[in-house]
Amino acid sequence: MGDDIAIRVEHLSKSYDAAGGASARIYVLSDINLCISRGEFHVFLGWSGCGKSTLLNIIAGFVEKTEGHVLVGGMEVEKPGRERGVVFQNADAALFPWITVRRNVEYGLRINGTPKRARDEIVNRCIKLVGLEEHEKKYPDELSGGMKQRVQIARSIANDSEILIMDEPFGALDAQTRRLMQNEVIDIWQKTRKTILFVTHDIHEAVYLGQRISILSRAPNATIIRSMDVPSPYPRRLAQGRLPSLIQEIQGLFDVEYEI
Ligand SMILES: Nc1ncnc2c1ncn2[C@@H]1O[C@H](COP(=O)(O)OP(=O)(O)OP(=O)(O)O)[C@@H](O)[C@H]1O
Ligand SMILES: [Mg+2]
Repeated sequence: MGDDIAIRVEHLSKSYDAAGGASARIYVLSDINLCISRGEFHVFLGWSGCGKSTLLNIIAGFVEKTEGHVLVGGMEVEKPGRERGVVFQNADAALFPWITVRRNVEYGLRINGTPKRARDEIVNRCIKLVGLEEHEKKYPDELSGGMKQRVQIARSIANDSEILIMDEPFGALDAQTRRLMQNEVIDIWQKTRKTILFVTHDIHEAVYLGQRISILSRAPNATIIRSMDVPSPYPRRLAQGRLPSLIQEIQGLFDVEYEI
């Protein structure tokens, strides 16, 4: 049974020293509990500043937790690992500007000494998967925002990361490109069956993408106030079936949050 669990988070909290050297500690995250199955598309939804990036960064191994457990494949997370590929909101900071698209995708494989023939084959497949065949010789500053995000996704898949951690990856894109990228991520997820952790503050994006959605309360002491399945096949139409009422229900949870 444990084998089906990709990520387990138990009683996770994260605190920082209060500003000005006061002795109190500020809890950003408090008692987060989660269980994410292998191959699940899990979306975290929460208002700005509630601690979404902090949560993903703890799971990715970039930020240390204060209390609790984060288990990936049954092992406590202590540092970043190849099985967890991260797609950052700011692609400019995540890509190497002095090497081509192809070299960026290939980077991890070179580092770990994958032989050239295997490397070429993997890189070709990943570049094709994200539709960048025509652009593989370009440098990052010659790409649009959506293309840069595709390079990050291709890189994670080339590294054979089982888990894709995506922190508001499409936040900076225009509405059309954003929808295109959302469809592409669904397509890649269906082809590769990766476990995806996706953060957004956009209810519509969450409902369009997520197999399961976890909703965070506001900081401080943010915790998961609700997790829900989205019982709708892909591709989805937000105006159809049970989705409009689901969107309304989530909106209602946020409105209540604001009144507190
Ligand atoms: N190193 C730090 N020291 C103190 N406080 C921090 C630190 N890093 C983050 N915080 C605080 O943690 C809270 C959550 O930040 P986080 O970036 O995780 O939020 P978020 O939900 O990702 O926000 P956004 O939607 O704007 O990206 C904020 O109040 C932030 O000020
Ligand atoms: Mg953030």
